[in-house]
Parts: sequence; structure tokens; C-alpha cells
Amino acid sequence: MKTQRVRLTRKPQQALQTSDFVVEQVELDELQDGQLLLRPQYLSLDPYLISFMRNWAGPSRDWSEGIISGRYVAQVVASRAPGFAEGDLVIGEGHWQELDIRPAKAMRALAPSSLLPSLRLGVLGSSGITAWAGVTQVLEARQGQTLVISAASGPVGSVAGQLAKVAGARVVGIAGGAEKCRHVVQQLGFDACVDHRQADFGKLLDAALPDGADLHFESVGAATLDTVLPLMNDFGRVALCGLMQHYQDNHPISLSNFRDLLYKALQLRGFRISDFADRFKEATAVLNSMAEQGQLHYAEVITHGLEQAPAAYVAMTQGQGIGKHLVHLG
Ligand SMILES: NC(=O)c1ccc[n+]([C@@H]2O[C@H](COP(=O)([O-])OP(=O)(O)OC[C@H]3O[C@@H](n4cnc5c(N)ncnc54)[C@H](OP(=O)(O)O)[C@@H]3O)[C@@H](O)[C@H]2O)c1
Repeated sequence: MKTQRVRLTRKPQQALQTSDFVVEQVELDELQDGQLLLRPQYLSLDPYLISFMRNWAGPSRDWSEGIISGRYVAQVVASRAPGFAEGDLVIGEGHWQELDIRPAKAMRALAPSSLLPSLRLGVLGSSGITAWAGVTQVLEARQGQTLVISAASGPVGSVAGQLAKVAGARVVGIAGGAEKCRHVVQQLGFDACVDHRQADFGKLLDAALPDGADLHFESVGAATLDTVLPLMNDFGRVALCGLMQHYQDNHPISLSNFRDLLYKALQLRGFRISDFADRFKEATAVLNSMAEQGQLHYAEVITHGLEQAPAAYVAMTQGQGIGKHLVHLG
């Protein structure tokens, strides 16, 4: 049986472009014992794939041939594995293909739910769990504190801000553009949002922080971190979640205000979602409960059709659109 697949044609020289990808036809192997034939429904367009795409190296051996393996929600078309039946929805890592064969052990069944399955790849999945870990475990946000969040409209930042509001903090977002900032305040309920594209970004952020910042959740890199550091209060905490601005090059990262870490006795802690694997259930329960009560606001950027996946992925790396980027396969 033949199917369509998206793979890389070359190692990107600079920033990823759609011409680095190709849509091709491939022959599927025979389904073996322990395997599932899957029809992916939603491909998750995640920042962590940038490094694998640039280096053709990742957790799965396929990356050495430029074959993309990312997270998706899929429907079981045929099963030769106990516990999985035709029609089941599963989540796991697989290829950017219209049909895919995966070992059942790489997939987890999704229980029937009134919540959209796509959310399991975003605010109710790793994005939401990362936000939960950063806000509740690394920053330990609490009542009366002020928290700044970069990439505030994205799936991680949007949940981080909403969790911090639940904890009683005042939350100031940073986002690129007036439309994203409006979304952050009006839809997500942050107290304020500052557009980092404004020429006087530093002054505007200062004005949005009359009592300084106690906590900072950083997902972008030097441009935002360097602006926030001078505005932080003594003994403040910084959670370093991501470096979106720096994933597409290997240049050294420099900070003009690095000294503030010392002078203000700040703590900066990098963290990875994998460090909190034993807390995933707890985090997911919190996020599910908020979503079921209509208290978790989110946005999705859904692109339709496998052949559009390269352009959709490149758009995500450029910060276009508001919310979690996904490709829906019909
Ligand atoms: N530590 C972990 O375990 C973990 C797990 C998941 C994700 N992450 C990290 O969390 C961060 C947010 O992830 P996400 O999925 O929620 O992504 P996202 O917010 O949808 O996308 C990243 C955002 O970064 C901003 N950005 C600023 N400068 C940029 C630049 N030069 N190029 C591209 N984007 C730029 C853009 O928002 P604005 O236009 O609003 O600035 C963009 O939308 C990423 O850094 C990701 O790697 C970390």
C-alpha cells in the first residue's frame, strides 16, 4: 500500500524554509504483530523539532535520513496489538504521513472525552504540562507576586499565565504585535501585555511593572530576558523554558544585563518537561479540570492537508499565528 509522506530533502543551511521539505510517495510495509496501522489526524508542530530538522539527528534513527518523527493524534485503521482496536484514538510519536505503521508500545490510547483531541497535543498535553512545571514547581508563583511571561500567546505561555492567575499572581505578558497582545489580555485574562516589536519596548514593559517583577518565565531568549532582568526585584526567580529566538543558529547568546543576576541575587533555573515525568498525571488533572470548567482559554492555528505541513511548520518557527500550530489531515 502506498501513502504520502513529508520528509526533509536537505539539512537547512540557515532558517528552515519550505524548500527544505518534500512531499513524496512511499510504500508501507506489511503490518506485523505488535504494530498498528494509523491514520494521523493532527500533527503537532513543535519547536523542539527544529534542532532535529537542522541536524538530521533525533531520538529515532529515521532522523539520520531526514525522515520526520513528531507527535500526533491518530486513529487506528488496523491493529495487530492487544488492547487496540480499529477506530481507537491514540497519541504518540510517528511520521508525517497520511498512513503510518507504528509499534503499539509507542502509542497511548486516548480515552473518550468531550474535549477536542487536538488539545492533547497542546494546552492539555506537553505545552500545558511544561507551563504547569514552570509556574508551580520552578517559579512557585503565589498570591501578590508579579510574573512576566514571554511568548505569552503561545500554547506554553498562555497556560503559564492562566495558571499564575489561578495562583493569585499579577501577570504581564510579552508578545509580538498588537493582535497577539489583545488576545493575551482579552481572551487569556492576563493583566497586561507588552508588544516586543515596539521601539520603546523596554520603557513600555517598565511602565507595565510599577512594582517590578518577582518572577519571569522565559521562552524566547536574550531579546526578552535582557529587557526583563533590570526590572526584576531582589531575590526574583527566572524559569528558563525555551530559547525560540536562538534555535535556528549557533551564535553565542549574549546578555548586557547578566550582572543583575548577581546584583539582585536572582535565581535562574532551566527546566525540561522530562524532569517532571512523575508529576504528569497531577499536572494533566489540573489542566483537564480547568478545561472541563471552561476556565482554560486557548487558540489553535490549524492548517489542513499533509502537503501544507512544511509551510505550516515554517510559519510556526517564524512566530506567525496565535496559539498551538497543528496540521489536520482529513
Ligand atoms: N523546557 C521544556 O521542556 C519545553 C517544553 C515545551 C516547549 N518548550 C519551549 O517553550 C517555548 C514556547 O513553546 P510553544 O510551543 O508555546 O511555542 P510558541 O509560543 O507557539 O512559539 C514561540 C514564540 O516565540 C516568539 N518569538 C520571539 N522571537 C522569536 C523569533 N526570533 N523566532 C521565532 N519566534 C519568536 C513568538 O511569539 P511572539 O511573536 O509573541 O514573540 C513565537 O510565537 C519554546 O521555546 C519551546 O522550545 C520547552
